[in-house]
Amino acid sequence: MDGRLKVTGQAEYTADHDIDGVVHAVIVDSTIARGRVTGIDARAANAQRGVLGVISHLDKPKLAYRENQGAWLDPSVGERLHVFQDDRVRFFGQPVAVVVARTLEAAQHAADLVKVSYDAEKPSTDLTGAPENDPLPQQNYARGKPEEALASAEVRLERTYRLARNHHNAMEPHATIARWDGDKLTVWDKTQWTLGAQGELAAVFGIPSENVRVISPFVGGAFGNALRTWPHSTLAALAARAIGRPVKLLLTREQLYYGVGFRPAYEYGLRLGSTRSGRLTAAVHRVRGETSRYEQFTEGVMVPGQMHYATPHVRQAYRTVPLDVNTPTFMRGPGYSTAVFAMESALDELAHELGVDPIELRLRNEPEEDPSNGLPFSTRRLRECLRVGAREFGWHRRNPRPRSRRDGDWLIGTGMASGVYDTLRMRSEARVRLESDGTALVQASTSDMGPGTYTSVTQLAADALGLTMRTVRFELGDSTFAPSPPHGGSQTMAGVGSAVQDGCDKLRQEAIKLAVEDERSPLHGVDAGDVVVRGGRLHVQGNPARGETYRQLLARHGRTHLETRGTFTPAGDDRYSMYAYSAVFAEVAVDRRLGLVRMRRMLGVYDVGRIISPKLADSQALGGMVGGIGGALLEHTVTDHRDGRIVNAGLADYLVPVNADIPDLRAVYLDGKDPHADPIGVKGLGEVVQIGVGPAIANAVFHATGRRVRDLPITAEALL
Ligand code: MOS
Repeated sequence: MDGRLKVTGQAEYTADHDIDGVVHAVIVDSTIARGRVTGIDARAANAQRGVLGVISHLDKPKLAYRENQGAWLDPSVGERLHVFQDDRVRFFGQPVAVVVARTLEAAQHAADLVKVSYDAEKPSTDLTGAPENDPLPQQNYARGKPEEALASAEVRLERTYRLARNHHNAMEPHATIARWDGDKLTVWDKTQWTLGAQGELAAVFGIPSENVRVISPFVGGAFGNALRTWPHSTLAALAARAIGRPVKLLLTREQLYYGVGFRPAYEYGLRLGSTRSGRLTAAVHRVRGETSRYEQFTEGVMVPGQMHYATPHVRQAYRTVPLDVNTPTFMRGPGYSTAVFAMESALDELAHELGVDPIELRLRNEPEEDPSNGLPFSTRRLRECLRVGAREFGWHRRNPRPRSRRDGDWLIGTGMASGVYDTLRMRSEARVRLESDGTALVQASTSDMGPGTYTSVTQLAADALGLTMRTVRFELGDSTFAPSPPHGGSQTMAGVGSAVQDGCDKLRQEAIKLAVEDERSPLHGVDAGDVVVRGGRLHVQGNPARGETYRQLLARHGRTHLETRGTFTPAGDDRYSMYAYSAVFAEVAVDRRLGLVRMRRMLGVYDVGRIISPKLADSQALGGMVGGIGGALLEHTVTDHRDGRIVNAGLADYLVPVNADIPDLRAVYLDGKDPHADPIGVKGLGEVVQIGVGPAIANAVFHATGRRVRDLPITAEALL
């Protein structure tokens, strides 16, 4: 639905919106990571032509910073950054002033002229060796007697894996346009959660939520980074209030490394106990992830260790490490992808040590029910993913011995891993309206960061209403539309899709009822259950001649429209354990003299429930593999620990995969619905397709070279 708009430049992303009378704001960021601002000299900036003002903590701007009960995605411990409320510097790149000018160029130039002086302290930005926060109760987990089981295990393995910090680097930079009309605020914002941004801005400015409208029709990638509402959105609205004009604020590429979150760096210590035949008996996880000093960011890093394998004795300790950095956030496959890298690497090490095939090892540890709570799985077809993958990838031709395959100077290896991600579902609503001309309008406040929600929801609605896709218009990205959950955690189709399905089903039934009860209708007296709708025409099933169109029906009744509200409410009492699964297979080539790793091919096999749109599913799956390849081989946010500055803050120096890095990728989906997850049978796709990619590659690198690299990204240096 939106492809043509996107490739022809007609899709309007946040900063593209043309708002009458808009002026431009540019953030001045801190050049120290810890300390105090001792002075801000804005005289030269203010003297520039076109400059309307320079705002900082010196102006003591009044912000309510009410507690926001609705911000459940935010860390539960600590407080969000309060902009310009004091002179403290908490991380490198923290906003310390904002310059507003009539043109972007004037604002940029003036921002360069603002002189900020500091009282700097030595920052701590290195996870290694840094002290930890006290854990929250949920950061400890135990079942059975893990230490005893470990001590008596026939085989033991103890390893530490390290994952570098990653940044999202979406194509579209974060941006906000803010406009006040009296005490009503309208923002055009890059967001994955229009209602989240609405609630947050209302809380920060101390106004009712109804006074804030958030508009976000297109989002150019986000991967989790636009779930929270970051300080720049507040700054745009603050500047607009102070100057009395609508303000546009766009972060620079460099500011995307400081002003918004990132995937935290991790150290993941794992001890495994196993029988000789490869049955896991014990697992002890010790996980350290970085966070800021002002908030404790935690994510789902503990889940896979509790439920993915039938391990009777488990202990987990998850710790956050406060550093002089800004608060991390969710990034594709959040938490799970980190844990799965450690677990699936360790299983490969164990398979090698035991002389058991890696797929066979996983099959031997498949649980019959969720070992963390004893619940049956709604659906768990990981065995099938592994078997289908083995067949399609040609796994049986593999010689398990490392360094057994060569192609000139290239050592060739294959590896595999499995993956898991939560099937999230949240309450959703949708407005469905059938117009007198026979077309339909569907609305929900969700945003669409790129997975193709415009298209997949239009498909569902068209099917349910008996219309063609051309005659259905789906609108999203506006907080005034029907409530939607965050567009993240792979839950948009489950929630929004199910609400749309519900609304369209109700509306179709209402129209059918209107017809069969109407003496003037050719369908009068027919059983409602025998009426179907195709191409906007209601007719008796098996007898297309007997019927009438929606248009005729509505016209005869003098109705301008029919309207319903669809809802989806997930069952509160979860009787099932619900997850999506992946099996990933990778082939790599490693230059034996230079240590370069090149991807040769990759296959992902997915148990994600029903596929609504195969083309869009492929787009997600291939994108997830590309993201996983980036994390495994290239992506690494490098901090200079002397001053807390990120040294590769930009797409020129932060490496992401390009076309030349990407081989033949293939995705296979097990056909079928999850009957328990939601009415449309989907389990969520966007995250799980990234999970398992990293360990499959690391395992393939080991198979190629005989070298086990436990730190991501795997660089050439590690293989020399
Ligand atoms: Mo996803 S990390 O919830 O955008």
